[in-house]
Amino acid sequence: MTEENFIPKAYCKTIENGSFSWASPSNIALVKYWGKKDHQIPENPSISFTLDYCKTATTLSFSKKETSEDYAFEIFLDGEKKEDFKPKINTFFKRIEVYLPFLKTYQFKIETSNSFPHSSGIASSASGMSALALCLVSLDNAMSTVKMSQDEFNQKASFLSRLGSGSACRSIEGDLVVWGEHAQINGSSNLFGIKYEHEVHPVFKKFQDTILLVDKGEKQVSSTVGHNLMHDHPFAKRRFEQAHDNISKLMSAFKTGDINTFIDIVESEALTLHAMMMTSMPYFILMKPNTLEIINKIWAYRANSESKICFTLDAGANVHVLYPEREKESALKFIKHELIEHCQNEHYITDQIGFGAKAIIN
Ligand code: DP6
Repeated sequence: MTEENFIPKAYCKTIENGSFSWASPSNIALVKYWGKKDHQIPENPSISFTLDYCKTATTLSFSKKETSEDYAFEIFLDGEKKEDFKPKINTFFKRIEVYLPFLKTYQFKIETSNSFPHSSGIASSASGMSALALCLVSLDNAMSTVKMSQDEFNQKASFLSRLGSGSACRSIEGDLVVWGEHAQINGSSNLFGIKYEHEVHPVFKKFQDTILLVDKGEKQVSSTVGHNLMHDHPFAKRRFEQAHDNISKLMSAFKTGDINTFIDIVESEALTLHAMMMTSMPYFILMKPNTLEIINKIWAYRANSESKICFTLDAGANVHVLYPEREKESALKFIKHELIEHCQNEHYITDQIGFGAKAIIN
Protein backbone atom coordinates (compact mmCIF):
# COMPACT_ATOMS: atom_id res chain seq x y z
CA MET A 1 0.00 0.00 0.00
CA THR A 2 1.28 3.46 -0.86
CA GLU A 3 -0.21 6.92 -0.66
CA GLU A 4 -1.17 6.72 -4.37
CA ASN A 5 -3.68 3.97 -3.59
CA PHE A 6 -5.83 6.58 -1.86
CA ILE A 7 -6.17 8.87 -4.88
CA PRO A 8 -9.61 8.28 -6.39
CA LYS A 9 -9.61 6.89 -9.93
CA ALA A 10 -12.86 8.28 -11.24
CA TYR A 11 -16.12 9.68 -10.04
CA CYS A 12 -19.23 8.45 -11.82
CA LYS A 13 -21.45 11.32 -10.80
CA THR A 14 -21.53 14.56 -8.91
CA ILE A 15 -23.87 15.01 -6.02
CA GLU A 16 -25.46 18.46 -5.86
CA ASN A 17 -26.09 18.52 -2.12
CA GLY A 18 -26.69 16.35 0.90
CA SER A 19 -25.16 15.42 4.23
CA PHE A 20 -23.38 12.60 6.06
CA SER A 21 -23.13 12.09 9.81
CA TRP A 22 -20.75 9.98 11.87
CA ALA A 23 -20.01 9.44 15.55
CA SER A 24 -16.37 8.60 16.15
CA PRO A 25 -14.70 7.74 19.45
CA SER A 26 -11.56 8.83 21.19
CA ASN A 27 -8.83 6.28 21.92
CA ILE A 28 -6.16 5.79 24.54
CA ALA A 29 -2.72 4.57 23.54
CA LEU A 30 -1.12 1.72 25.51
CA VAL A 31 2.15 2.01 23.56
CA LYS A 32 2.53 5.65 22.66
CA TYR A 33 3.06 7.55 19.43
CA TRP A 34 5.52 10.34 20.25
CA GLY A 35 7.74 11.54 17.42
CA LYS A 36 6.88 11.78 13.74
CA LYS A 37 8.40 12.30 10.30
CA ASP A 38 7.01 14.44 7.48
CA HIS A 39 3.46 13.72 6.32
CA GLN A 40 2.36 12.45 9.72
CA ILE A 41 4.45 9.27 9.51
CA PRO A 42 5.07 7.94 13.04
CA GLU A 43 8.61 7.22 14.24
CA ASN A 44 7.36 4.09 15.99
CA PRO A 45 4.28 1.85 16.03
CA SER A 46 1.59 2.41 18.65
CA ILE A 47 -1.40 0.44 19.90
CA SER A 48 -4.56 1.74 21.56
CA PHE A 49 -7.84 0.82 23.15
CA THR A 50 -10.73 2.46 21.33
CA LEU A 51 -13.09 4.19 23.77
CA ASP A 52 -16.84 3.90 23.85
CA TYR A 53 -18.45 6.89 25.58
CA CYS A 54 -15.98 9.67 24.67
CA LYS A 55 -16.84 10.57 21.12
CA THR A 56 -17.55 13.31 18.60
CA ALA A 57 -20.67 13.41 16.45
CA THR A 58 -20.26 15.32 13.21
CA THR A 59 -22.64 16.19 10.40
CA LEU A 60 -21.09 17.36 7.17
CA SER A 61 -23.58 19.15 4.89
CA PHE A 62 -22.48 20.05 1.40
CA SER A 63 -23.74 21.85 -1.68
CA LYS A 64 -22.06 22.41 -5.05
CA LYS A 65 -20.67 25.91 -5.49
CA GLU A 66 -20.08 28.06 -8.57
CA THR A 67 -16.34 28.66 -8.30
CA SER A 68 -13.68 26.25 -7.10
CA GLU A 69 -10.79 28.53 -6.18
CA ASP A 70 -10.63 27.90 -2.46
CA TYR A 71 -12.14 25.86 0.35
CA ALA A 72 -15.47 27.12 1.63
CA PHE A 73 -16.64 25.85 4.98
CA GLU A 74 -18.20 26.91 8.25
CA ILE A 75 -17.72 25.02 11.49
CA PHE A 76 -20.01 24.85 14.52
CA LEU A 77 -19.45 23.27 17.94
CA ASP A 78 -22.72 22.64 19.80
CA GLY A 79 -24.46 25.07 17.43
CA GLU A 80 -21.95 27.85 18.00
CA LYS A 81 -19.82 29.07 15.10
CA LYS A 82 -16.12 28.44 15.73
CA GLU A 83 -13.83 30.72 13.74
CA ASP A 84 -10.84 29.57 15.81
CA PHE A 85 -11.22 25.95 14.52
CA LYS A 86 -10.84 27.10 10.92
CA PRO A 87 -7.02 27.15 10.56
CA LYS A 88 -6.77 23.51 11.68
CA ILE A 89 -9.45 22.41 9.21
CA ASN A 90 -7.81 24.47 6.48
CA THR A 91 -4.48 22.71 7.06
CA PHE A 92 -6.31 19.37 7.09
CA PHE A 93 -8.06 20.14 3.78
CA LYS A 94 -4.74 21.15 2.19
CA ARG A 95 -3.14 17.86 3.27
CA ILE A 96 -5.99 15.67 2.03
CA GLU A 97 -7.04 17.46 -1.16
CA VAL A 98 -5.00 15.20 -3.42
CA TYR A 99 -7.00 12.25 -2.03
CA LEU A 100 -10.35 14.09 -2.19
CA PRO A 101 -10.17 16.24 -5.33
CA PHE A 102 -13.73 17.55 -4.87
CA LEU A 103 -12.92 19.58 -1.75
CA LYS A 104 -12.88 22.99 -3.46
CA THR A 105 -16.06 22.35 -5.43
CA TYR A 106 -18.40 22.30 -2.43
CA GLN A 107 -19.63 24.68 0.23
CA PHE A 108 -19.45 22.70 3.50
CA LYS A 109 -21.12 23.11 6.85
CA ILE A 110 -19.48 21.09 9.63
CA GLU A 111 -21.63 20.67 12.76
CA THR A 112 -19.94 18.91 15.60
CA SER A 113 -20.54 18.05 19.24
CA ASN A 114 -18.60 16.04 21.82
CA SER A 115 -20.00 13.66 24.41
CA PHE A 116 -17.48 15.14 26.86
CA PRO A 117 -17.16 18.84 27.75
CA HIS A 118 -14.85 20.73 25.39
CA SER A 119 -13.08 22.25 28.37
CA SER A 120 -12.44 18.88 30.06
CA GLY A 121 -8.82 18.77 28.95
CA ILE A 122 -9.68 15.68 26.90
CA ALA A 123 -8.27 16.13 23.43
CA SER A 124 -11.06 16.04 20.88
CA SER A 125 -8.65 15.88 17.94
CA ALA A 126 -8.75 12.06 17.62
CA SER A 127 -12.54 11.79 17.71
CA GLY A 128 -13.13 15.08 15.89
CA MET A 129 -10.72 14.53 13.01
CA SER A 130 -11.82 10.93 12.50
CA ALA A 131 -15.53 11.89 12.50
CA LEU A 132 -14.87 14.53 9.82
CA ALA A 133 -12.69 12.17 7.77
CA LEU A 134 -15.46 9.53 7.84
CA CYS A 135 -18.04 12.06 6.55
CA LEU A 136 -15.66 13.05 3.73
CA VAL A 137 -14.97 9.43 2.74
CA SER A 138 -18.72 8.80 2.67
CA LEU A 139 -19.06 11.56 0.07
CA ASP A 140 -16.00 10.29 -1.82
CA ASN A 141 -17.48 6.78 -1.92
CA ALA A 142 -20.93 7.98 -2.94
CA MET A 143 -19.42 9.59 -6.04
CA SER A 144 -16.95 6.81 -6.91
CA THR A 145 -17.44 4.61 -9.93
CA VAL A 146 -16.24 1.54 -8.05
CA LYS A 147 -17.60 1.36 -4.50
CA MET A 148 -15.12 0.71 -1.71
CA SER A 149 -15.24 -2.51 0.32
CA GLN A 150 -15.73 -2.05 4.08
CA ASP A 151 -11.98 -2.55 4.60
CA GLU A 152 -11.07 -0.04 1.91
CA PHE A 153 -13.50 2.46 3.39
CA ASN A 154 -12.03 2.06 6.88
CA GLN A 155 -8.49 2.28 5.56
CA LYS A 156 -9.13 5.48 3.65
CA ALA A 157 -10.95 7.00 6.63
CA SER A 158 -8.02 6.10 8.89
CA PHE A 159 -5.48 7.32 6.32
CA LEU A 160 -7.19 10.71 6.07
CA SER A 161 -7.73 10.95 9.84
CA ARG A 162 -3.99 10.49 10.30
CA LEU A 163 -3.38 13.56 8.18
CA GLY A 164 -5.65 15.51 10.54
CA SER A 165 -4.09 14.21 13.75
CA GLY A 166 -1.87 11.12 14.01
CA SER A 167 -3.71 9.39 16.85
CA ALA A 168 -7.06 9.96 15.07
CA CYS A 169 -6.22 7.15 12.66
CA ARG A 170 -6.69 4.71 15.55
CA SER A 171 -10.33 5.77 16.15
CA ILE A 172 -12.11 4.22 13.15
CA GLU A 173 -12.30 0.67 14.49
CA GLY A 174 -11.94 -1.16 17.79
CA ASP A 175 -11.38 -2.67 20.21
CA LEU A 176 -7.60 -2.62 19.80
CA VAL A 177 -5.92 -0.77 16.95
CA VAL A 178 -2.31 -0.76 15.76
CA TRP A 179 -0.79 2.08 13.78
CA GLY A 180 2.74 1.87 12.41
CA GLU A 181 4.76 -0.96 10.97
CA HIS A 182 5.56 -3.76 13.38
CA ALA A 183 7.42 -6.92 12.33
CA GLN A 184 5.01 -9.29 14.10
CA ILE A 185 1.79 -7.69 12.91
CA ASN A 186 0.84 -8.51 9.33
CA GLY A 187 -0.69 -5.63 7.45
CA SER A 188 0.46 -3.03 9.97
CA SER A 189 1.16 0.26 8.23
CA ASN A 190 2.57 3.70 8.86
CA LEU A 191 -0.23 5.10 6.70
CA PHE A 192 -3.30 3.97 8.65
CA GLY A 193 -4.44 2.07 11.72
CA ILE A 194 -5.62 -1.54 11.55
CA LYS A 195 -7.74 -3.60 13.90
CA TYR A 196 -5.58 -5.86 16.07
CA GLU A 197 -6.61 -9.34 14.98
CA HIS A 198 -4.26 -11.48 17.10
CA GLU A 199 -5.50 -13.49 20.05
CA VAL A 200 -6.71 -11.50 23.06
CA HIS A 201 -7.48 -13.18 26.41
CA PRO A 202 -11.00 -12.52 27.80
CA VAL A 203 -9.58 -10.53 30.76
CA PHE A 204 -8.78 -7.71 28.32
CA LYS A 205 -12.26 -7.64 26.83
CA LYS A 206 -14.54 -4.86 28.12
CA PHE A 207 -11.59 -3.25 29.90
CA GLN A 208 -12.67 -0.16 31.81
CA ASP A 209 -11.16 3.33 31.60
CA THR A 210 -12.09 5.96 34.17
CA ILE A 211 -10.64 9.30 33.10
CA LEU A 212 -9.70 11.54 36.01
CA LEU A 213 -9.83 15.19 34.98
CA VAL A 214 -6.93 16.62 36.92
CA ASP A 215 -6.47 19.76 34.87
CA LYS A 216 -8.99 21.09 32.41
CA GLY A 217 -6.90 24.02 31.28
CA GLU A 218 -5.30 24.50 27.91
CA LYS A 219 -2.00 22.54 27.63
CA GLN A 220 1.15 24.68 27.77
CA VAL A 221 2.79 22.64 25.01
CA SER A 222 0.82 21.13 22.13
CA SER A 223 1.36 17.53 20.99
CA THR A 224 2.63 18.80 17.64
CA VAL A 225 5.39 20.80 19.35
CA GLY A 226 6.19 17.81 21.58
CA HIS A 227 6.47 15.44 18.60
CA ASN A 228 8.87 17.85 16.90
CA LEU A 229 11.12 17.94 19.97
CA MET A 230 11.83 14.24 19.39
CA HIS A 231 13.88 15.19 16.29
CA ASP A 232 17.05 16.10 18.18
CA HIS A 233 16.18 14.20 21.32
CA PRO A 234 19.14 12.43 22.97
CA PHE A 235 17.10 9.31 23.79
CA ALA A 236 14.92 9.17 20.67
CA LYS A 237 16.57 6.26 18.88
CA ARG A 238 16.38 3.94 21.88
CA ARG A 239 12.83 5.07 22.66
CA PHE A 240 11.62 4.21 19.16
CA GLU A 241 13.18 0.74 19.42
CA GLN A 242 11.63 0.27 22.85
CA ALA A 243 8.13 0.89 21.44
CA HIS A 244 8.60 -2.06 19.04
CA ASP A 245 9.72 -4.29 21.94
CA ASN A 246 6.85 -3.15 24.13
CA ILE A 247 4.30 -4.03 21.45
CA SER A 248 5.85 -7.51 21.19
CA LYS A 249 5.63 -7.93 24.97
CA LEU A 250 2.03 -6.69 25.01
CA MET A 251 1.14 -9.14 22.25
CA SER A 252 2.18 -12.10 24.34
CA ALA A 253 0.47 -10.65 27.42
CA PHE A 254 -2.74 -10.22 25.41
CA LYS A 255 -2.52 -13.83 24.30
CA THR A 256 -1.84 -15.43 27.67
CA GLY A 257 -3.85 -13.02 29.82
CA ASP A 258 -0.69 -11.95 31.66
CA ILE A 259 -2.11 -8.84 33.25
CA ASN A 260 1.00 -8.13 35.32
CA THR A 261 3.08 -7.70 32.16
CA PHE A 262 0.27 -5.59 30.72
CA ILE A 263 0.48 -3.29 33.77
CA ASP A 264 4.28 -3.06 33.57
CA ILE A 265 4.25 -2.10 29.90
CA VAL A 266 1.32 0.31 30.05
CA GLU A 267 2.56 2.24 33.09
CA SER A 268 6.13 2.30 31.80
CA GLU A 269 4.91 3.66 28.44
CA ALA A 270 2.99 6.45 30.19
CA LEU A 271 5.99 7.47 32.28
CA THR A 272 8.37 7.14 29.32
CA LEU A 273 6.16 9.50 27.29
CA HIS A 274 6.43 12.10 30.04
CA ALA A 275 10.13 11.36 30.53
CA MET A 276 10.65 12.22 26.86
CA MET A 277 8.97 15.58 27.48
CA MET A 278 11.10 16.24 30.55
CA THR A 279 14.32 15.39 28.72
CA SER A 280 13.70 17.29 25.48
CA MET A 281 15.20 20.71 24.79
CA PRO A 282 13.33 22.83 25.66
CA TYR A 283 12.04 20.54 28.44
CA PHE A 284 8.56 20.68 29.87
CA ILE A 285 6.31 18.94 32.37
CA LEU A 286 2.62 18.28 31.72
CA MET A 287 1.93 16.26 34.86
CA LYS A 288 0.57 18.15 37.88
CA PRO A 289 1.05 17.38 41.58
CA ASN A 290 -2.36 15.67 41.56
CA THR A 291 -1.27 13.41 38.69
CA LEU A 292 1.50 12.07 40.96
CA GLU A 293 -0.83 11.82 43.97
CA ILE A 294 -3.15 9.62 41.92
CA ILE A 295 -0.32 7.44 40.59
CA ASN A 296 1.03 6.87 44.10
CA LYS A 297 -2.41 5.98 45.43
CA ILE A 298 -2.93 3.48 42.59
CA TRP A 299 0.40 1.85 43.40
CA ALA A 300 -0.41 1.69 47.13
CA TYR A 301 -3.86 0.25 46.47
CA ARG A 302 -2.44 -2.39 44.16
CA ALA A 303 0.24 -3.33 46.68
CA ASN A 304 -2.37 -3.83 49.39
CA SER A 305 -4.95 -5.75 47.40
CA GLU A 306 -5.37 -8.29 44.64
CA SER A 307 -6.34 -5.49 42.26
CA LYS A 308 -4.99 -5.23 38.72
CA ILE A 309 -5.85 -1.57 38.38
CA CYS A 310 -3.28 0.57 36.56
CA PHE A 311 -2.89 3.94 34.88
CA THR A 312 -1.87 5.54 31.67
CA LEU A 313 -1.44 9.18 30.66
CA ASP A 314 -1.77 11.06 27.43
CA ALA A 315 -0.04 14.34 26.68
CA GLY A 316 -1.52 16.13 29.68
CA ALA A 317 -2.16 15.94 33.41
CA ASN A 318 -5.29 13.76 33.29
CA VAL A 319 -5.03 10.14 34.37
CA HIS A 320 -6.70 7.21 32.60
CA VAL A 321 -7.36 4.53 35.22
CA LEU A 322 -7.56 1.12 33.53
CA TYR A 323 -8.99 -2.05 35.09
CA PRO A 324 -10.67 -5.33 34.10
CA GLU A 325 -14.46 -5.42 34.04
CA ARG A 326 -14.53 -7.98 36.87
CA GLU A 327 -13.14 -5.27 39.19
CA LYS A 328 -15.58 -2.60 38.16
CA GLU A 329 -17.40 -2.28 41.48
CA SER A 330 -14.37 -2.26 43.77
CA ALA A 331 -12.32 -0.05 41.43
CA LEU A 332 -15.06 2.58 41.21
CA LYS A 333 -15.39 2.56 44.99
CA PHE A 334 -11.65 3.14 45.32
CA ILE A 335 -11.71 5.86 42.67
CA LYS A 336 -14.61 7.69 44.35
CA HIS A 337 -13.19 7.38 47.87
CA GLU A 338 -9.56 8.11 47.15
CA LEU A 339 -8.88 9.54 43.73
CA ILE A 340 -11.54 12.03 42.71
CA GLU A 341 -10.46 14.45 45.42
CA HIS A 342 -7.42 15.05 43.17
CA CYS A 343 -9.58 15.96 40.17
CA GLN A 344 -10.54 19.49 39.23
CA ASN A 345 -14.04 19.98 40.71
CA GLU A 346 -14.04 16.19 41.35
CA HIS A 347 -14.78 15.61 37.68
CA TYR A 348 -14.20 12.26 36.06
CA ILE A 349 -15.62 10.26 33.14
CA THR A 350 -16.33 6.54 33.21
CA ASP A 351 -15.62 4.84 29.91
CA GLN A 352 -14.71 1.43 28.56
CA ILE A 353 -13.37 -0.23 25.44
CA GLY A 354 -15.46 0.48 22.36
CA PHE A 355 -15.71 -0.87 18.87
CA GLY A 356 -15.20 2.10 16.61
CA ALA A 357 -17.07 4.72 14.67
CA LYS A 358 -20.72 4.46 13.66
CA ALA A 359 -22.64 6.14 10.86
CA ILE A 360 -25.57 8.21 12.09
CA ILE A 361 -28.56 7.76 9.82
CA ASN A 362 -30.30 11.13 9.44
C1 DP6 B 1 0.56 11.42 23.68
O1 DP6 B 1 -2.11 12.57 17.59
O2 DP6 B 1 -2.38 14.54 19.12
O3 DP6 B 1 -1.62 11.05 22.80
O4 DP6 B 1 -0.30 13.95 15.07
O5 DP6 B 1 0.47 16.14 16.01
O6 DP6 B 1 -1.99 15.60 15.92
P1 DP6 B 1 -0.57 15.07 16.07
O7 DP6 B 1 -0.44 14.47 17.51
P2 DP6 B 1 -1.45 13.63 18.40
O8 DP6 B 1 -0.43 12.96 19.42
C2 DP6 B 1 -0.90 12.07 20.37
C3 DP6 B 1 0.16 11.70 21.29
C4 DP6 B 1 -0.25 10.89 22.50
C5 DP6 B 1 0.09 9.43 22.32
C6 DP6 B 1 -0.79 8.60 21.45
O9 DP6 B 1 -2.01 8.88 21.35
O10 DP6 B 1 -0.27 7.63 20.88
